[in-house]
Amino acid sequence: MTDQNTNEYPEKIKKHFRTVYQQTPLIVRSPGRVNLIGEHTDYNMGFVLPAAINKAVYLGIQKREDNEMHFVSFDMDDFYQTDLQNITHSGKLWPDYILGVVEQFQKAGAQFTGFNIVFGGDIPFGAGLSSSAALECASGFAFNELFDFGFDKWQIALMGQAAENQFVGVNCGIMDQFASVFGKKQNLMQLDCRSLEYTYIPFNDEGIEIVLFDTRVKHSLASSAYNDRRAQCEKGVNLISQHHPHVKSLRDATEEMLLNHVKPVDEEIYRRCHYVVSEIQRLLDGCEDLKKDDLESFGKRMFETHAGLRDQYEVSCPELDHLVDLVTGNPSVLGARMMGGGFGGCTINLVKREGVQDLIEEITAGYKALTGKDVEVYLARIEDGTSKL
Ligand code: GLA
Repeated sequence: MTDQNTNEYPEKIKKHFRTVYQQTPLIVRSPGRVNLIGEHTDYNMGFVLPAAINKAVYLGIQKREDNEMHFVSFDMDDFYQTDLQNITHSGKLWPDYILGVVEQFQKAGAQFTGFNIVFGGDIPFGAGLSSSAALECASGFAFNELFDFGFDKWQIALMGQAAENQFVGVNCGIMDQFASVFGKKQNLMQLDCRSLEYTYIPFNDEGIEIVLFDTRVKHSLASSAYNDRRAQCEKGVNLISQHHPHVKSLRDATEEMLLNHVKPVDEEIYRRCHYVVSEIQRLLDGCEDLKKDDLESFGKRMFETHAGLRDQYEVSCPELDHLVDLVTGNPSVLGARMMGGGFGGCTINLVKREGVQDLIEEITAGYKALTGKDVEVYLARIEDGTSKL
């Protein structure tokens, strides 16, 4: 199991910053996230139920005398440098998450001078725990603090998303950046992605662990398939809105509308939209379960979500399906499903604490036997969102 102790990172970053730049940095922590239920609903204006976790990006920042930007990735042992007048794609992805946020801040009127960055952290890359959103939000929060720009939390989250959409080129919704910025220890957040209103829901983890099984795969079609799914949902909305002009997103659609106006035209788009419309309702029902402390019922819905993502939305992959199949029927497991965009990354499992060790051993062996690969296991604890340390 991976060591959950993250405390060494801020010190490591500070030390490295002094070595590279001979300055003392301001340090920002921005976490990754889990999502209990409500997958692929954010860009359909539905609801999501994420929480920030005990894995984070730690970013050190300090001003420079010139107009240059110097970035060091501590974990990748890599460096990138450019200047504020020259924001173009770096050609190696990781600097683009920071550059995209700079660009958004500039569009919003922020006047930068040069700065130095060192960042690192313990969110596994490509595991579907939103390491990229965490880096975007760490950057935005750090710029805001260092230059005293005065943006609020929502502006930081939304500019992070815009950076991902416009600069990185993934048409993601708002869930990941929201979760990273607004996370609250021991609380889930029910976010209405249309109104952007949210409520904190205390997560009673007495006797329960949130266990993440990481497939250690990320299939290459992940980001193009993500954009394709989003386009298919929009197509479904177009088909319906010809008959029901008030329908602006799948949030406004009903199963009946899908049957009448989408199914006869395109069976595949119907399946995609049907998954989304049922998932929005499933989340609302799941939140009622949580209010009653009924994790058994909540867990069953997680399995239903997985089936929908696998069979209707078709964003799962054999490795994720194996991990869910392996825990199905295990008396310690209340619920399990693939999490995040799909095509790799982690499953999220609600597990009775007394059964966790046995489960891990069983799944580790079972996954190896089925795939030949080693599963990675993380115990997620719900922590606060982005902050200055
Ligand atoms: C990725 C995206 C999110 C969300 C999920 C699926 O994590 O970044 O916006 O759409 O996939 O729920």
